[in-house]
Amino acid sequence: MKMLAPLAGKHNVTDFEALCKSFEWSHMEREFSWFTTGKVNAAYEAVDRHAENPAKSDQLALIYQDGDTEEKWTFAQLKNRSNQAANMLKSLGVTKGDRVFLFMPRCPDFYASFFGILKNGAVAGPLFEAFMEQAVEDRLKDSGAKVLITTAELLPRVKRENLPDLKEIIVLDCEPADDLHDYEKLMNAASTAFEPVWLDKEDGMLLHYTSGSTGKPKGVYHAHRAMIQHYATGKWVLDLQESDVYWCTADPGWVTGTSYGIFGPWLNGATNVIAGGRFTPEAWYKMIEKHKVTVWYTAPTALRKLAAAGDEVAHSFDLSSLRHVLSVGEPLNPEIIYWAEEVYGKRIHDTWWMTETGAMLIVNHPTLPIKPGAMGKPIPGVEAAIIDDAGNVLPPHQSGNLAVKAGWPSMMKTIWGNQEKFDSYFINGWYVSGDSAKMDEDGYFWFEGRLDDVINTSGKLVGPFEVESKLIEHPAVTEAAVIGKPDEERGEIIKAFITLDKGHLDSIELREEIRLFIKKGLSAHAAPREIEIVSSIPKTRSGKIMRRLLRAKELGLPLGDTSTLEE
Ligand code: WTA
Repeated sequence: MKMLAPLAGKHNVTDFEALCKSFEWSHMEREFSWFTTGKVNAAYEAVDRHAENPAKSDQLALIYQDGDTEEKWTFAQLKNRSNQAANMLKSLGVTKGDRVFLFMPRCPDFYASFFGILKNGAVAGPLFEAFMEQAVEDRLKDSGAKVLITTAELLPRVKRENLPDLKEIIVLDCEPADDLHDYEKLMNAASTAFEPVWLDKEDGMLLHYTSGSTGKPKGVYHAHRAMIQHYATGKWVLDLQESDVYWCTADPGWVTGTSYGIFGPWLNGATNVIAGGRFTPEAWYKMIEKHKVTVWYTAPTALRKLAAAGDEVAHSFDLSSLRHVLSVGEPLNPEIIYWAEEVYGKRIHDTWWMTETGAMLIVNHPTLPIKPGAMGKPIPGVEAAIIDDAGNVLPPHQSGNLAVKAGWPSMMKTIWGNQEKFDSYFINGWYVSGDSAKMDEDGYFWFEGRLDDVINTSGKLVGPFEVESKLIEHPAVTEAAVIGKPDEERGEIIKAFITLDKGHLDSIELREEIRLFIKKGLSAHAAPREIEIVSSIPKTRSGKIMRRLLRAKELGLPLGDTSTLEE
């Protein structure tokens, strides 16, 4: 097995083995206010603490770039603006525990509003700006969201008549109708002074919806305690130092964009680059060159696209500021690691974690030799193993469930409104990830695949049930089954099998219409790239769609056990 030795450099932690040996999470708590006061607010720790430090208040907290639009805020400015947002929300009646959702593109005010929510002790629910009607409605309804902050452009996707709990809507970028609130007006009227609501570390902070193989997306509910791990992994794994200019490419509608687009960098007092606009290799390289990004956290899909764009594009920018590059969300192809080393002169460090885990668990920390293709090893304070379905730990080199001993700080609190679902994640005190993996003799973990039907397309998880439900709303579709199909660039693409209602005939136009129906109803990334018309959908006798069978057929694999197949 090829091992790549760590590249030289000065890191926050040089002796990981020693750190692991003496480590206890409770010691980490000393770094935060609750160790002395017993009370916490993650917004205070991430923003106000730095703003109140004369040596840091004028340091740039945020650099925002979207095309030619550029905005820079110091920690002091971020504190003031988020205090205004906190006062704005308070004036609308937001109190502890309320769910306040953010549905807007990445922009500095997203972050001000996010912290404004937390400062009130309320729970933030960020939504991808790409979500369409149904996706927005499902999440707002399930969470019982009370307040929504959105933009004029996205507002039409919010069907208020279906959302009785939604009391107030604040709109950016326009003078809204009388029953809505104007963001600018409220912000301008709001004071820059606000005392954060002091909370218990178990109090709720964040709701991220993620897809499962059954049912609608589930609300993964995180508590303020998660920030200990955001801070720790920001320090040990992202290796953030206060002088770093850090860029996480993930959208805050996804957990990476909050845990590591907000908390990791700001709890560590780094400067955080926020990119708006669409992905192009040129725009991304320009971002690194212009702002002299030192630490870059991105995803395999993006790296594959950058590699496909060619070495010349990379070489036409000055990327020499980069010190440390990391990846998350999908398997990181060894070729990409070799390519990046050649072209960027940097090795890419893979990290593994999930929406439910709240923060990194298995990583290639800066001083660990990289085995290309492996996800790395557990961070200090985390015990991971491969277990069988009964919860027994398996020896090295055996495939099984990738599992983690419950109790790390950023572990989800529950699934919103569904304790049963939450409980179903655990066997014998192990959190079972749903991923299958192997561990080698050195304790490195190797990803194999998802054990359920969840599709990972360009690093975004898509639940087949959600797409199938939408498909059958189309007048031409009777039944639908959706699978993930391997794809070089996207990891997987979505393929839908459908049966047609009487009176409808297969045509390219119809298939395109159905694809657009999903794109407009759910989101672009959930729209099937391939649609095949079939005469029937394979189901078990109890009526469950046998996606496994469709996948095997599609890939020309053995069909396996078909004894439960209905006649
Ligand atoms: C997959 C993302 C391989 C995995 C933070 C997991 C990975 C799911 C890796 C969670 C990795 C994440 N290598 N696969 N380094 N990281 N995954 O909830 O299947 O959007 O269960 O959170 O992505 O996706 P989620």
